This record gives sequence, C-alpha cells and structure tokens, in this order.
Amino acid sequence: MSPARPQAEESALAAVAEALRCPECGRGLIFADSVLRCERGHSFDIARQGYVSLLTGAAGKLTGDSAAMLDARAAFQSAGYFTPVAEAIADAAVSSSPERDGERVLDIGAGTGYYTARVLDALPAARGIALDIAKAAGRRCARAHPRAAAVVADAWRGLPVGDHTITLAMSVFAPRNPGEIVRALAPAGRYIVVTPTAAHLAELIDPLGMVTVDPDKDRRLTEALAGRFERRAGATVEYPMSLPHEAIAALVGMGPSAHHAATPADRIAALPDPCTVTASVSVAVYTPTAGWSPADPHLTADPRSL
Ligand SMILES: C[S@@+](CC[C@H](N)C(=O)[O-])C[C@H]1O[C@@H](n2cnc3c(N)ncnc32)[C@H](O)[C@@H]1O
Ligand SMILES: [Zn+2]
Repeated sequence: MSPARPQAEESALAAVAEALRCPECGRGLIFADSVLRCERGHSFDIARQGYVSLLTGAAGKLTGDSAAMLDARAAFQSAGYFTPVAEAIADAAVSSSPERDGERVLDIGAGTGYYTARVLDALPAARGIALDIAKAAGRRCARAHPRAAAVVADAWRGLPVGDHTITLAMSVFAPRNPGEIVRALAPAGRYIVVTPTAAHLAELIDPLGMVTVDPDKDRRLTEALAGRFERRAGATVEYPMSLPHEAIAALVGMGPSAHHAATPADRIAALPDPCTVTASVSVAVYTPTAGWSPADPHLTADPRSL
C-alpha cells in the first residue's frame, strides 16, 4: 500500500468490495494490493486521495459538481445550517432499519459525503458507499467517514453494485435512477429520497435570480417510483435559517445557479445581514414493491425523465 494512501480509506473500500461490480463486464470485483479487479482482468486503481473511479469509456457530458461548488457546499454544511435535514435523514434510516447489523448504505450523488457520514454515525455497524460522478466529490467522500468507501461513477449509466446488495439507498438533492436502485436493493431494503419543496430558499429566488424548484417535480418523482416502490413514510422538514452574507454566497455557490451565471456580489450585499431564509425539504422512505421484475415493459421508461 502506498504510504500516501491512508489505510482507513482502503479498508472502507475493501469492506464493500464484494458488493461492487465491474463497470466493464458486470462481474464481481476483488480488492487486493490497492486495486479492484474482476476475473476478466479489468482493474481499477484506488486514487492517492482514497477513492476508486469506476467511470468507463469516453467521458460523458455529465461531470457533476465542480470542486468550487463542493467547497461551497462543505462550508455551508459544516456551519450546521442543514443539521435538521441530516438528523431527519439519520432518523429515517434508523427507524426504517429492519436490523441494525450488516447494513450496506449506498448514497447516490453523495457530494461532500455529509449525509453519508451522518447516516453511518446513526447505524454503527453499517458500511457505506458514497457514489458521485465528480472526482472532486470522490476526494471529499473518501475523507467523510471511516466506514464510507468513495466510488466515482455515473448513476445514469448504471450503479456499479450487484443485484440486491444494498440495504439502504439514498438520493439527497441528487440523481434518482429508480430501475437501477430497485435492482441494487435487497428485498427488505429501503430508499430515502430527499427533495426540496417549493418553499426551500424561496426568499432568495427572486433577489438572487436563483433556479426555482420545478413545481411538477413531486408528481414526476411519484410517477417514476410508482410500481417499483411503495412510499412508507414521509415528512417535510421546514425551519428558518438566519444566514449571514457569507453563508448566502456559499449557498449560491453550491447550487444549480452556480452552473449558470455568477450572482453579482452586489445582489447579496442588498439583502439584510443576516437574512432569514426558509429551509424546506421532503424526506421520504420507499421500499421496493414485492414482485417487481426488471423485465416489466411498463417500467422501463428513461430514468432521465425525472
Ligand atoms: C445537489 S448535489 C447534492 C450532494 C449531496 N447529496 C448533498 O446533498 O450534499 C448533487 C450531486 O450529484 C452528483 N451527480 C450529478 N450527476 C450525477 C450522476 N450522473 N451520477 C452520480 N452523481 C451525480 C453531483 O456531482 C453532486 O455532487
Ligand atoms: Zn470486468
């Protein structure tokens, strides 16, 4: 093992290797000598920063969040503004857990790994896979928690895990690929989906020209999950945040608006300091519908329609 590659990150990957699948041929992966390898000889090195990239072929158009967006997200999260959201997710993970042993968590679009870490703290025997398409996220996720393995992969191209190997999947403000998630989940597994409501950050949308939440998103999510999943529990977590300008700049920098135009600093400067801004998210728990078959022709719609 390279001395530059911390042992904790390698052991987190080794602990979930049996659930991972080769993105080239779909066979199982074995972890040895800092490499994940399948029996056909496809091999994937563990980066010096502790993550493994299972991206294949030509780089797609999707690159995920930039390092600057992830830095902004980490700054906002570490200031504690989303603690109630993290607590609600961790509570949902614990209260829906059929057994506390042997849980395998897959966080899809894990970003900084903030929510992966909170859930692993709440499930002390669980192992986690923090998956994101961005290498900058892989670097952060590798350091997020000693029991979190960081995997760089494109969730739209398929999840690099075996059938029914995951007991808890989660998408927190992140991509949802229902067909793949139901394939990956164990029969008693569950799927936590966190989405912003229309009230989320509403006070900032007009003044800062931020991207609004699509009002149809909920309906489309319900439709996409229908037939494959049943909704077991759900709550809206809503509370006011008192945000200094610095936090508002981080919020803008981490969100989808950062992909578009930079928000001029003078727009932020025109806001009260601190400014009261609503956090409002839906935290829902789904379980796979018994008897669903991946061959069902009614359920093979393009997941990107989400
Ligand atoms: C809005 S961020 C949310 C991150 C994290 N769940 C959180 O709430 O802090 C969405 C994340 O999804 C990742 N992402 C986008 N497209 C993806 C894809 N096709 N496969 C995997 N991750 C993807 C981005 O890189 C980004 O880190
Ligand atoms: Zn292979």
